[in-house]
Amino acid sequence: MDRVNTKLINFPDDISLKHCAEIIVKGGIVVFPTETVYGLGADALNPSAVEKIFTAKGRPNDNPLIIHLHDISVLDKYVMEVPQVLSLLSKLYMPGPLTVVLKKKNIIPDCVTANLDTVAVRIPDNDIARKLIEYSDTAIAAPSANISGKPSPTMYEHVVSDLFGKADAIINGGKCRIGVESTVLDLTSEKPVILRPGGVPYDSLKLVIKDLQVANTSSSDTPKSPGMKYKHYAPKADMVIIKGDMLRVLERINSMSDDYSGVLCCKETYDRYDTANKLCAGSIKDPSEIASNIFECLRLFDEMQIKIIYCEYFDTKGIGEAVMNRLLKAASQNVIEV
Ligand code: TXA
Ligand code: MG
Repeated sequence: MDRVNTKLINFPDDISLKHCAEIIVKGGIVVFPTETVYGLGADALNPSAVEKIFTAKGRPNDNPLIIHLHDISVLDKYVMEVPQVLSLLSKLYMPGPLTVVLKKKNIIPDCVTANLDTVAVRIPDNDIARKLIEYSDTAIAAPSANISGKPSPTMYEHVVSDLFGKADAIINGGKCRIGVESTVLDLTSEKPVILRPGGVPYDSLKLVIKDLQVANTSSSDTPKSPGMKYKHYAPKADMVIIKGDMLRVLERINSMSDDYSGVLCCKETYDRYDTANKLCAGSIKDPSEIASNIFECLRLFDEMQIKIIYCEYFDTKGIGEAVMNRLLKAASQNVIEV
């Protein structure tokens, strides 16, 4: 791929966002912040622009993209039908970290959806993202703005490191508030199915959807959300998750640690690990704090050139489910029970 001249937008104001929108309209690719993770966007209606996303990320073509809208009022333009359950869901979570899969209209090119007859749609809860989409006056197709397989980017520094010289512009929106990707909810099957746990927890959706189903995201069969079959979120280091009573977890990790290993833990246990190579993701009492730091921690271990990460098994309540889903994938499901 030819190296491109990447514009760095450090202080996104209306003028620079309109300039980025022009880049999108002309078929370029732009990195923008959302409340979940940074996205790498292109005009969803322009196949050659969308192809650039796959090339820049090194993403397999059979993994479909989410289209991002600035407002629910334009949804009709892109999807065949809007199921009834969406009217309440959209009031609660759109804008927000919820992606819904719906039957697509032909206006969406096949390269966006990897030839599926459905399309994933989300309205980000981030002013920069929504202005960029509105000024572009289109839908923006965007995956997470990481090189394929790497942890998703939650900070400006992450996207500069992955996509400088590949994207036409990178917009600095600071640290992403939520820190894990959106929940992907399929509304095209008989019963709504969570394809990927994310920013909107199961319990919150269950309140609205009585017959809510959950896809088995750890199985290696062809999943309905094609992206779930790839090794994701992986730091360079190997990773092992240690599960069990807190004291035993501490003991086991301390017994295995050496100069080449790192420990990913919570605030409550941090002081009790002997090694200096340790990172605290947040308090066990605050799963959203852990969510907002988790991808950053994985990237920091890479910078520290750690060879193996020993990670605590965090609580899976609320957004904790999405956190453990990502960590288990990063660890290739490698868990030691103590
Ligand atoms: O929070 C997020 O969702 C971020 C921000 C940038 O919006 N985006 C994101 O995109 O995580 P990506 O491409 O990294 O993950 C999209 C997921 C993949 O697992 C993909 O397979 C699934 O959504 N997906 C996309 N279109 C689909 C479809 N039509 N049917 C089923 N799954 C779909
Ligand atoms: Mg991704």
